[in-house]
Amino acid sequence: MKLNLKIWRQAGPNAKGQMVDYKIDGVESDMSFLEMLDLLNEKLISKGDEPIAFDHDCREGICGMCSLYINGEAHGPDKLTTTCQLHMRRFNDGDTITIEPWRANAFPVIKDLIVDRSALDRIQQAGGYISVNTSGRTVDANNIPIPKKNADMAFDAATCIGCGACVATCKNASAMLFVSAKVAQFALLPQGRVEAAKRVQDMIAVMDAEGFGSCTNTGACEVECPKGISLTNIAILNKEFLLAQVK
Ligand code: SF4
Ligand code: FES
Repeated sequence: MKLNLKIWRQAGPNAKGQMVDYKIDGVESDMSFLEMLDLLNEKLISKGDEPIAFDHDCREGICGMCSLYINGEAHGPDKLTTTCQLHMRRFNDGDTITIEPWRANAFPVIKDLIVDRSALDRIQQAGGYISVNTSGRTVDANNIPIPKKNADMAFDAATCIGCGACVATCKNASAMLFVSAKVAQFALLPQGRVEAAKRVQDMIAVMDAEGFGSCTNTGACEVECPKGISLTNIAILNKEFLLAQVK
């Protein structure tokens, strides 16, 4: 397959970036999208050119590192699919593919296609955990009955991989879907109730301080989320926040 690529190049955080055109030949339909970029980088390096910086780690759809805007869609054209799980069979010979980094004030570009998503880590550090007494007298978690529906919803919320596609897709660059998943996964379980009020207030305070926008219920985040995190979690987040205010 031969492809025309338009890729965002930016030497550093304060450098002026621009779209650069590349032609690539020899792309196999079984290659992943990142393997296609690897091939391009091999060709660039062999010519003595600077390779394109892009983020990746697991390449299995679980770490959330591969944050790319492909043809105007976060993680590309396939639903419920991360960039690393997207395959070149999704494209046709001769296609033009536009590749950009996430665009959000809270995600500054570090280089080329790599953005700094540590704002999400700081939200998580503000309360995305439970404090457990590990003295040896801890009750086994399986001894606490949990309604099946709550267990399923908590498990679904916990599948958020922190990729930031929801932020990149939202016209307001809101992180509400991410934060709602991180709050709901604990709010629905008895173990998470102990610190529930403090957790939701602290995480929302950091979300606001990091410069993410407000949620206006557009729903684009849910559509583009590679893990199918539901907007229902935002309703849970809003309820938790209101409850915490009343307390
Ligand atoms: S909610 Fe979805 S899109 Fe947002 S960070 Fe989590 S997995 Fe990524
Ligand atoms: S590289 Fe880990 S989710 Fe894509």
